[in-house]
Amino acid sequence: MDGRPTRDDAWKLLREFTTSPSLIKHALAVEAAMRAYARRFGEDEAAWGIVGLIHDFDYERNPTPETHLHAAQRILTERGWPEEWIRAVCSHADSMGIPRDTPMARTLFAVDELTGFLTACALVRPDRAIANVKVKSVKKKLKDKAFARGVNRDDIRRGAEALGVELDEHIAFVRDAMAAIAAELELPPSA
Ligand SMILES: [Fe+2]
Ligand SMILES: [Fe+2]
Repeated sequence: MDGRPTRDDAWKLLREFTTSPSLIKHALAVEAAMRAYARRFGEDEAAWGIVGLIHDFDYERNPTPETHLHAAQRILTERGWPEEWIRAVCSHADSMGIPRDTPMARTLFAVDELTGFLTACALVRPDRAIANVKVKSVKKKLKDKAFARGVNRDDIRRGAEALGVELDEHIAFVRDAMAAIAAELELPPSA
């Protein structure tokens, strides 16, 4: 890798390893949330977006805790990606045992599971519009264990806490970031 990887490099890497449309949409949702938080915190928006876009690039081929991110760590290192980005990417799963000791890493963890949960909340609405998902209804669904049961509620709460953002505000913030790219997420715009 000559110089710092670009968004285009990140996209190519994602597509090299990922074919699942839902994983691609997950990557785009996390990218959007990372960029929005980078703007809010006055951080490097391009870098944060790239980290969001690639954070699960090895997941399709390595979907178990024993393999997910171990492959990513090796591939990114071999290809000369920036160390700070590799650490942030690999810290998003507790199984890697890498501390989330930068704002970039904490934000990635905080938005990862929430984007999936918000997508599930949008899809059960009659209009399927992410922009119209209400914070109150998200919190109610967080308590409903049968709803989107694959999403780890504890990760969402721990993530917001470590980020230092109130859960209500965090939900609304990530929702708005996703709503801004609703078309890419194949969700309808707000009515
Ligand atoms: Fe992951
Ligand atoms: Fe993820």
